Amino acid sequence: MAIKDQLAIFSSEAADCKICRLCNSRTQVVFGDGNPDAGLMIVGEAPGRDEDLQGVPFVGRSGKLLATLLDQELGIDRSGYYITNVVKCRPPDNRDPLPQEVEACNPYLESQLELIRPKVILTLGNFASKLLVGSKEGITKLRAHEYPSKFGWIVPTFHPSAALRGGGQVVAQMRADLIRVKKLMAAEPASA
Ligand code: URA
Ligand code: SF4
Repeated sequence: MAIKDQLAIFSSEAADCKICRLCNSRTQVVFGDGNPDAGLMIVGEAPGRDEDLQGVPFVGRSGKLLATLLDQELGIDRSGYYITNVVKCRPPDNRDPLPQEVEACNPYLESQLELIRPKVILTLGNFASKLLVGSKEGITKLRAHEYPSKFGWIVPTFHPSAALRGGGQVVAQMRADLIRVKKLMAAEPASA
């Protein structure tokens, strides 16, 4: 079966998930979007308001900034990557996901990674970066390096919402991390 068809099955299975209490406040589960055959997977934190309403990750303000940076540095749009989040349901008032919510939702992310086997995984912000690198260090320490994993190269960078708050310097660092992604897309696959 094609990867995208298998993902559609996973997505429909997750659509009525009630494993954690984020199911009570969501409008809908936001499973993932984009091209799973492109070799690049992007992992954010959790759906925000726009994502919860539209059912698609990264369609709000931070998503638009991310899309601009990916276009400028890598020349790709959503056909050039698959994008999802650590938790698939919007936390109330955009609060941080709780550890038990991250843990409850993790099997969905693992199944996406297993199936897609991307060459490069770009993790946005603390939640995705700590979880996938398996580190307690924050994003400021983790970024500017790549980490081999059984799923592919992990490249941590800032969350675009941090760039919206932090301005040009954060954007410049995100651009540098995206250039790292570009190089790794052309390099040997990770083996860890
Ligand atoms: N922030 C995220 O982490 N994910 C989204 O889908 C939107 C905003
Ligand atoms: Fe299920 Fe994940 Fe939504 Fe929790 S956040 S209800 S585990 S899909």
